Amino acid sequence: MTRSGKHILLLPGDGIGPEVVAEAVKVIDYLRGAGEIAVECDYGLIGGSACDECGVPLPDETLKAARRSDAVLMGAVGGPQYERLPRERRPEQGLLAIRRELGLFANLRPALSFAPLAACSALKEEKVSGLDLLIVRELTGGVYFGEPRGIRTASGGLREGYNTMVYREDEIERIARVAFDAAQKRGGKLCSVDKANVLEVSELWRDVVERVARDYPGVRLSHLYVDNAAMQLVREPKQFDVMVTSNLFGDILSDLAAMLTGSIGLLPSASLNGAGAGLYEPVHGSAPDIAGRQIANPLAAILSLAMLLRHSLGLPEPAARLERAVAAALARVRTADIAGGLAAVSTAQMGDAVVECYAG
Ligand code: IPM
Ligand code: MG
Repeated sequence: MTRSGKHILLLPGDGIGPEVVAEAVKVIDYLRGAGEIAVECDYGLIGGSACDECGVPLPDETLKAARRSDAVLMGAVGGPQYERLPRERRPEQGLLAIRRELGLFANLRPALSFAPLAACSALKEEKVSGLDLLIVRELTGGVYFGEPRGIRTASGGLREGYNTMVYREDEIERIARVAFDAAQKRGGKLCSVDKANVLEVSELWRDVVERVARDYPGVRLSHLYVDNAAMQLVREPKQFDVMVTSNLFGDILSDLAAMLTGSIGLLPSASLNGAGAGLYEPVHGSAPDIAGRQIANPLAAILSLAMLLRHSLGLPEPAARLERAVAAALARVRTADIAGGLAAVSTAQMGDAVVECYAG
């Protein structure tokens, strides 16, 4: 393949994925037309739609295209029609496989309260206004990938399910460094979340994080058990700057953090491998109940594009301008999930509003 600019692989996926990715593409087209970025885009299959067409949730072709690209922008995977498939063919396996194959161990999930939306949060406005939290979730290890795993027949003929939560020191160290680096560039505070009062894997996690902390004298490190962290996030979310945690705990806490900002429809994420490759996706799922109705919120996808511009394409200015355009668009129009008393606009109208605010 010969090409001049950068290359983005688009993986719309299932459910509302295609609708929200279409709005991110609208933004890409605008930026390209305005001469702000030089990118080429290709489409690929992942998740249930890939299973429908090729019989597997992550076709080889998609993986190869992802490896050739500078960045991947994904929509969402999953849907009730796929829940009865054998595990290896379920849509989620496509997502887990691409994370593993590309070595995307660092998952950045920022939760930002946009001023016009503070009243939409599940918490009181004063608890969340100005919130700026970054969850750094380990993404290629822990109980999600640990072996052995399975369902076996135990004594007495009863079935038992088992998984293994395992972290090697180097896996803990590299995610800790990503989090410390981020904290150093932000508010200088890092909270590591574990369950060290019960789990050996967490005891080691804490030990390694402490060791890495010596290289970052400017960052204030604290530790919380995950149950307490969940409570503190709801009690006083603004006490946090950066949080670092394992795969499973990060999965849970990032959904919780989403509700602090008003809607999970607003949360972007970046999954990075430390060598520049990145997969960008909204934190929300495929929302099959509202798919195809043009009522989904495309802002998480558009904010994921902003992260892509910043982290994989080295374009911090358009990224920041796009984030400001999202804030400006929110002051004008809302999709149904955050409408409050206002009339809701469609997915496409929200995308149009962002483009207008960017241009204006
Ligand atoms: C997420 C999702 C995924 C995860 C699922 C779809 C496999 O919940 O990205 O948070 O658990 O990592
Ligand atoms: Mg999740």
